[in-house]
Amino acid sequence: MSERFRALVLDREDGNTRSRIEDLPLDALPEGEVLVEVVYSSLNYKDGLAITGAGKIIREFPFVPGIDLAGRVRESTVPGYRPGDLVVLTGWGVGERHWGGLAELARVRAEWLVPLPEGLSLEHAMTIGTAGFTAMLCVMALAEQGVGADAGDVLVTGASGGVGSIATALLARRGYRVVTATGRSELAEYLQGLGAAEVIDRASVLESGKAPLASQRWAGAVDTVGGAILAALLKALRYGGTATACGLAGGAELHTTVFPFILRGVKLIGIDSVYCPQERRRTVWQQLARELDAALLDQITTVVPLEKAPEIARGFLEGKIRGRVVVAIRDEH
Ligand SMILES: NC(=O)c1ccc[n+]([C@@H]2O[C@H](COP(=O)([O-])OP(=O)(O)OC[C@H]3O[C@@H](n4cnc5c(N)ncnc54)[C@H](OP(=O)(O)O)[C@@H]3O)[C@@H](O)[C@H]2O)c1
Repeated sequence: MSERFRALVLDREDGNTRSRIEDLPLDALPEGEVLVEVVYSSLNYKDGLAITGAGKIIREFPFVPGIDLAGRVRESTVPGYRPGDLVVLTGWGVGERHWGGLAELARVRAEWLVPLPEGLSLEHAMTIGTAGFTAMLCVMALAEQGVGADAGDVLVTGASGGVGSIATALLARRGYRVVTATGRSELAEYLQGLGAAEVIDRASVLESGKAPLASQRWAGAVDTVGGAILAALLKALRYGGTATACGLAGGAELHTTVFPFILRGVKLIGIDSVYCPQERRRTVWQQLARELDAALLDQITTVVPLEKAPEIARGFLEGKIRGRVVVAIRDEH
């Protein structure tokens, strides 16, 4: 009989997405050059949309979700990877169109993998996951656009979420004065612990959205929320400032005018983590391993078993998740 592996499996019944834990046969796995024993996965906002069915992320069922995975190569048909190698995978449509990381085994294309950066554990790689990878892309984009640590205040929205928490920590460690906007004032201490110099209410960012332009407040911004918050903060960027947009937790639409762009020369930089090219991907992971220490990563992580994934998935849609959620897939102890 073929070997079996444990997985979270999604099915579509009566127009609803249902999830259950199942033992699947090895030959059910999709094609790919590398078979990975998944040790940890993680949960992101997009997994929340996929597992609950609230977003049309998955189109073919049954399906194994999980956009992130970290583990050990068991088999490889390409010279670049050998059994025992430790690897990380985020993006490339894994957990969306190709079976993902919420399972003991994943078979994937070799070009999607990144070798685990030196100094990082598999668990901490998943504390970072897509959220942390995206946070670093945002922080690097600000620097590339000339927003340095001495430029002035940088705003992070959706600050207590995954991308927001790691962006806050990265910016603070690089010496920026970080102002975090949150809808959860009870998490102010948590955000200060990550390095926020100031914690403001999400509603106060919306205030600057009322007129065509607001007073110049932000040298830069990392926006994870989209919608009205992004439209409002664009109006309060300083002359020549830059905002990065990566998320839509607060809405996918953007109603704005050209005034901030043509009167203040501000820039809006779009961030995509899924198809980030391999060379930049490796650089980003090296930087993450260098700039995020173990104590900080532990501070923002909740580790859960696979059984908890559906409950956490719902939590994302309710805006209830703090920091990062790592899923322990195999017991390595
Ligand atoms: N472009 C990319 O490649 C990429 C990669 C990763 C993530 N993303 C996107 O980035 C966003 C954040 O992802 P994540 O994994 O960090 O999610 P998350 O952990 O759920 O964080 C989102 C945060 O946004 C705030 N928020 C939630 N609902 C909101 C609402 N209705 N209005 C205003 N603020 C709200 C909350 O922070 P507070 O309670 O602190 O306000 C929440 O913690 C998601 O939209 C995700 O799809 C995009």
